[in-house]
Amino acid sequence: IADIKGGPDEGLDRVGQTLVVKGWVRTLRVQRSITFMEVNDGSCLSNMQCVINSDAEGYDQVESGSISTGASVWVEGAIVESQGSGQKVELRVTKVITVGKSDPSFPIQKKRISREFLRTKAHLRPRTNTFGAVSRVRNALAYATHKFFQENGFVWISSPIVTASDCEGAGEQFCVTTLIPSSRDASDSLVDTIPKTDDGLIDWSQDFFGKPAFLTVSGQLNAETYASALCDVYTFGPTFRAENSNTSRHLAEFWMIEPELAFADLSDDMACATAYLKYVVRHVLDNCKEDMDFFNTWIEKGIIDRLSVKWGCDLQSEHERYVTEEAFAGCPVIITDYPKEIKAFYMRLNDDGSTVAAMDVLVPRVGELIGGSQREERLEYLEDRLDELKLNKETYWWYLDLRRFGSVPHAGFGLGFERLVQFVTGIENIRDAIPFPRTPGSAEF
Ligand code: 4AD
Ligand code: MG
Repeated sequence: IADIKGGPDEGLDRVGQTLVVKGWVRTLRVQRSITFMEVNDGSCLSNMQCVINSDAEGYDQVESGSISTGASVWVEGAIVESQGSGQKVELRVTKVITVGKSDPSFPIQKKRISREFLRTKAHLRPRTNTFGAVSRVRNALAYATHKFFQENGFVWISSPIVTASDCEGAGEQFCVTTLIPSSRDASDSLVDTIPKTDDGLIDWSQDFFGKPAFLTVSGQLNAETYASALCDVYTFGPTFRAENSNTSRHLAEFWMIEPELAFADLSDDMACATAYLKYVVRHVLDNCKEDMDFFNTWIEKGIIDRLSVKWGCDLQSEHERYVTEEAFAGCPVIITDYPKEIKAFYMRLNDDGSTVAAMDVLVPRVGELIGGSQREERLEYLEDRLDELKLNKETYWWYLDLRRFGSVPHAGFGLGFERLVQFVTGIENIRDAIPFPRTPGSAEF
């Protein structure tokens, strides 16, 4: 459908051609001598209006009710100029086949459905306009991300998902536990197979084949090791945070893009973030016009009051939104040089001894989109900082090695991919920016 309707004449140039559409019925209007069926195939927002007369092969399926909203269909017909006002062309159907019937209980009917309700139907929500559009824009952003970094000479690194180190040093990690298949039969629930001690408690010594292991909170430390050999690298993969927060911008599982630049300082880092954002936004505006026009029709903007911030406090999301929406009139803003107390151990200490070479990119509606920094490349400073924060130097031995063997100034950042999707689409809640959101207590689908 995108191929037909996305053309310069919205399909008029294809009039007279035969077309097969395979998709799902969005609406069906049965009139006495003519039936209108809107079919969507996921390629774009637009449906194909299929006009079925009683002489079409398979018309009996209309009469018997086996075609209904939600059913999958195979439709063949001729592209003709549309008499209706909604579209330039439509399909005059010669043959229709119901591939899969849809039960009348199909919950996604034409009327407007709340996004809260759709979260309980995560398996069916991609069949709505909104989630179709979000999926296509998310895909375009992922493609543009790889394109940007590849065109600029970055090497993509797969950072591990299971790790023993805590990149942010914040302790917000999920633990990995080994199940013992030999002690399991089909009737056991998975939970019952978690190794237990004699008193029935979880046996943590069994974590990852006898070693403690966690789901990664960030691939940064691994990216730094490869930047210390290949120069500019990036990661793009899932990361996990065990923060028990129920907000519209936090997920327990989210995707992060983490470039790491060697022989680079904070200003190189900011230049990279700026160029990246401009590139991916331009790509989406150029390639997802129909979906972006759709989002433009329903963005709602909240108003944030003036707020006060004290030195040494971290910015709360209301502060972040105030900065970009009010103080800077809806423009993205970069904040640099935060007090070291509120930032992670790896950030480079500035000459003032109290701030670090950090940068956060804040954008309207979302707040913090990017967190980055120049890294502490000096061994003694880094060791002091780990001591100061009472972090266990032993577990960071390999990270410290990078400072022992050919250390270079380097910098990088992490961008939360779902927050980028939120920013670009205007989707209010981060749970609607990822196909299957993982939040406290929700991992059903
Ligand atoms: O600011 P954060 O915690 O920075 C890091 O993890 C660094 N190691 C990144 C780096 O320098 N390579 O997280 C980076 C970004 C945030 O700015 C935010 O966009 C996103 O990750 N993020 C989350 N997104 C969704 N849900 C959460 N719970 C998130 N936590 C962070
Ligand atoms: Mg941050």
